[in-house]
Amino acid sequence: MPPTGKPLLILGIETSCDESGVALYDTSRGLLGHKLHSQVAMHADYGGVVPELASRDHIRRVLPLTRELLAECGLQLADINAIAYTQGPGLAGALLVGASIAHGLAYALGIPAMGIHHLEGHLLSPLLADPAPTFPFVALLVSGGHTQLMRVGGVGDYELLGETVDDAAGEAFDKTAKLLGLGYPGGPEIARIAEHGMPGKFKLPRPMLNSGDFNFSFSGLKTAVLTAARDKTLSDADKADLAAEFQAAAVDVLVAKALAALEKTELNQIVVAGGVGANLRLREQLTTRAAKMGCHVFYPPLALCTDNGAMIALAGGLRLSRAGGAPQAKLAFTVRPRWDLDELGPA
Ligand code: KG4
Ligand code: ZN
Repeated sequence: MPPTGKPLLILGIETSCDESGVALYDTSRGLLGHKLHSQVAMHADYGGVVPELASRDHIRRVLPLTRELLAECGLQLADINAIAYTQGPGLAGALLVGASIAHGLAYALGIPAMGIHHLEGHLLSPLLADPAPTFPFVALLVSGGHTQLMRVGGVGDYELLGETVDDAAGEAFDKTAKLLGLGYPGGPEIARIAEHGMPGKFKLPRPMLNSGDFNFSFSGLKTAVLTAARDKTLSDADKADLAAEFQAAAVDVLVAKALAALEKTELNQIVVAGGVGANLRLREQLTTRAAKMGCHVFYPPLALCTDNGAMIALAGGLRLSRAGGAPQAKLAFTVRPRWDLDELGPA
């Protein structure tokens, strides 16, 4: 086991949903590289992720991706000091694939495997950007399964400020896209057709905009789209206008609450993480309005907004650095398909 202070090379493995991601993170040199296989095309015919297909595809992808990545970085399995894998939350079967591979490989190499919280990976991913934020900061986590505002004091120091009381923002994008007959995943599809539409032609609510807390609600917004779509046959132009108004409504609420969280915490940095963070309207509005308050917004590099191995390797590396070295290798493991971020302990 490497002594305290020596740089550590961490292999990160992400398999919580429909992306197989691997990455190599060096605690002194940073991210060396990452590789991703998206299953989006495979699930597209079904309009959403089919868990069994996802698990089977992860089995096929993780080791070949790891071999390719090592070769590209001029490294070998024997150079790796620890393996970080997504332990949860996510699809149980998909998580088990990553956990089994991580533990099997770690056992063969005589190194530890460490389970990482998927959302911690997303939360910390803006640290891979240049410039990167410094602790403490506010984090807006907007993915397909979560919408949360957190105060991040350091690695493992997460205080939940507010969250969605029903659908996640990404889920609302996905469901709305389905209602409009668009493909999966819905977020990029809504964003794409919204470019040709005008917000305001249809009128949608801004749920909980003035609720005075940091919670969100997106299910009413989706229902309002359903009502608007049901009343008439929508032309392509109507769909574009509806998508534009839906996107504007979701972004208005996300931005207003994010800015309110900055005010309340008296912090001047906010990071946006998770797949919806790829939304350009959200980026533009938040960046402009935060700047007016003297605050900075940080995003992960665009390729690392959605699920990836780099954020898992990074979280593993930061935890190891803070712990002063790799933990003892353990043979037993579990996955945690349901796992609240505030149950996580400090690094
Ligand atoms: O973080 P992520 O890759 O997976 C989860 O952990 O959920 O987020 C996926 C979500 C999906 O709901 C997808 O529709 C949404 O992120 N998304 C977007 C955009 N790109 C991806 N939503 C809005 N605008 C986008 N450009
Ligand atoms: Zn995710």
